Amino acid sequence: MQNLFLRDDSALTPLATAESRHDLTTAESRRSCWRNSRAPLVSASPRQKTPTKNVSRIGLSLFRTCLKRQFAMSKISETKTQKKTALLPTLNDLSAATREVSIALLNQALADLSDLHSQAKQAHWNVTGQAFFSQHKLFDDLADALFEPLDDIAERIVQLGGIANGTVRQAAASSKIPEFPTADKGGLSYVTALAEHVAVAAKSVRAAIDTSGAAGDADTADLLTGVSRSLDKTLWFLEAHTRP
Ligand SMILES: [Fe+2]
Repeated sequence: MQNLFLRDDSALTPLATAESRHDLTTAESRRSCWRNSRAPLVSASPRQKTPTKNVSRIGLSLFRTCLKRQFAMSKISETKTQKKTALLPTLNDLSAATREVSIALLNQALADLSDLHSQAKQAHWNVTGQAFFSQHKLFDDLADALFEPLDDIAERIVQLGGIANGTVRQAAASSKIPEFPTADKGGLSYVTALAEHVAVAAKSVRAAIDTSGAAGDADTADLLTGVSRSLDKTLWFLEAHTRP
């Protein structure tokens, strides 16, 4: 698939040489993807009788794949710009650029999950109402599930030469999870709020899987995949309580 990207004027390249192209704008990315997605059409032999419908489908598929790759690369660039920090020396063979991307993604996940864990505990302690006992237990179980991956995430950051920003204050400063509705007391309000907040974290982690994978760190992508699976399960537990 990657060789097809070399047909055009180098607007698209394999990941190994794509770092210098992080400054592609969204419009430019779309244009270059469109040119590349038409390349198979242009280069096809005149005798080759490919049905138009199939060719269009191939072109559309290439276009979508290309846009997805460009999006991942733009996220890598964005992460590097926002979160660049000095790395500790290590013999880990991943490039410094790749490790910087992963460290930023992992620190974001650390902050978001730390925040979520505290919110689940807040719900566990303060829930009231007829469903008190079941929800009290539910929130405690979910807090445990949210706490479990934190150690692996933090240690992966340090393994890559980074600093794990793991204090409560650091989590509060970096978390992208909305504030917990402390004025509410229970019923389904805590369940609904936590479900919405877990969904925010799950979306962020899922994007981080793609970004770390595209940056060349399959191990971080694998770690985040496990976190993503756990968050999806947590979301299921919460949403099941809101259904008839
Ligand atoms: Fe407790």
